[in-house]
Amino acid sequence: LQNSHTDRTAFHFQPIKNWMNDPNGPLFYKGYYHLFYQYNPYGAVWGNIVWGHAVSTDLIHWIHLPAALVPDQWYDIKGVWSGSATFLSKVNLVLLYTGWSNASRQVQNVAVATNPSDPLLRSWSKLSENPILVATAGINSSNFRDPTTGWTGSDGLWRVLVGSKIDKNETGLALLYKSHDFVKWQLADHSLHSVANTGMWECPDFYPVSMNEKKGLDTSVNGPLVKHVLKVSLDDKKRDYYALGTYDTSADIFIPENKKIDVGIGLRYDYGKYYASKTFYDDNKQRRILWGWINESDSIAADKAKGWSSVQGIPRKVWVDESNPHGIKQWPIEEIEKLRHAKHSKKKFWLKKGSILKLKAKRATQLDIEVSFDLPSHNQQELVLNDEMAQNEAQINCGKVGATKQGTYGPFGLYVLATKDLQERTSVFFYLRHSNKGWRTLVCSDQSRSTLLPNIDKTIYGSFVPVTKGEDFLSLRVIVDHSIIETFAQGGKVCITSRVYPTRVNDDSAHLYLFNHGNQIVHVQMLAVWEMSNVVFDIY
Ligand code: FRU
Repeated sequence: LQNSHTDRTAFHFQPIKNWMNDPNGPLFYKGYYHLFYQYNPYGAVWGNIVWGHAVSTDLIHWIHLPAALVPDQWYDIKGVWSGSATFLSKVNLVLLYTGWSNASRQVQNVAVATNPSDPLLRSWSKLSENPILVATAGINSSNFRDPTTGWTGSDGLWRVLVGSKIDKNETGLALLYKSHDFVKWQLADHSLHSVANTGMWECPDFYPVSMNEKKGLDTSVNGPLVKHVLKVSLDDKKRDYYALGTYDTSADIFIPENKKIDVGIGLRYDYGKYYASKTFYDDNKQRRILWGWINESDSIAADKAKGWSSVQGIPRKVWVDESNPHGIKQWPIEEIEKLRHAKHSKKKFWLKKGSILKLKAKRATQLDIEVSFDLPSHNQQELVLNDEMAQNEAQINCGKVGATKQGTYGPFGLYVLATKDLQERTSVFFYLRHSNKGWRTLVCSDQSRSTLLPNIDKTIYGSFVPVTKGEDFLSLRVIVDHSIIETFAQGGKVCITSRVYPTRVNDDSAHLYLFNHGNQIVHVQMLAVWEMSNVVFDIY
């Protein structure tokens, strides 16, 4: 058995070859979106990290540029690690990043755009004052990294966060620093926030969200109709967790809406594979956009053999979920719809129990699929608080159900990247379970049959989906691009991303099915399937 050559994606962001991890310093400047990313120029494994750099006018078609930052100073000679971009003014742009020093310490450094009139921002210079932040007493220099985008408080001072942990009790925390010039910094006497037993907080992200609009907010905005999102990447679990809360500017602390689902123990951006993500405010379209790194699920040997590792997820717009005071919604940026063609759609039809319906799609390795079902039970839905216990329960339940077990309502959903004999297939489906408070809806992504290859991580992912009053539907959007599947359930309330490596599925032989293995008939409100075009990446 062999990985098929079609693993490489057709419209996701990838370097031409080699290893990539975290997205860094995303921004919009003079008509171009910029993406920097952790990159190894010498191989398909982590190491020798530089800031790769690419630009785009639409976040979909990219031009690869030479690396923006490379290790060339004592303070970053072992690696130019993750960081963020901040506009000090409209034309004064700085990058703040972690350097891994010659003594293997993590320190923070600033680089400035040397030629602000160049929209491609090809040249950067590192400040002579670097490192501008070093680990002081009480901070472990091996747990001191990934500075955020800066914001200003009511006192006019700049603030940034640096991820860290307190070794003795595994408390993860976001160290808060203040500065008037972005060069000289003072550590605040308390962190912005910390949560016990969550371990190292990598790649913190902190940003305002509007409570009454889908519009994004620039990072320093605050006010009565504004809440804040604090996101951290938990090193131990390789998962991105967030909490919605209030930023108390006078005390300079983050107060979560609900302590039971505080950062690191509650909501996740994605219940599949999604890590080290970062948002930026897109001034071009007044929205906040989220980038996230999607690692491989197969072996290092396989990565080396194919010569590349990892993709970035399709950028997502994020905003507050108007129906759920604790959560946000995520949706693929609208630009991706430009790649849609050859639409097949169907409305209002029934899926009998036991049915497996083959759907039309010529090249089912590259698809964008939207489907909505009538909410099968109009009895009350229980709103599950998505704490750790509920998450474990959801994952275990999705695992038990698989896509074949028969329940009352479900499983029903899609088989993507399937062979005709269904020997290989990934199932994305809903399953309803009864509890004493009503029905609970699960969305699951089952990779267990995704490939005949052994030694692949085939975890079955799942989460409860909040179905709120007035919603009489269950909906899925699934984006398929060869080895990546991104699922957005219920309008983006829950996302699940997975990586799969089918051996017998190629552009001509991939199939797409709609199935219902539940006991009850299911009504499909709407189904639309688009084939997706390839994107050609240019090299500058
Ligand atoms: C997250 C991370 C960051 C670090 C970078 C190094 O994936 O470990 O904490 O800055 O990657 O590449």
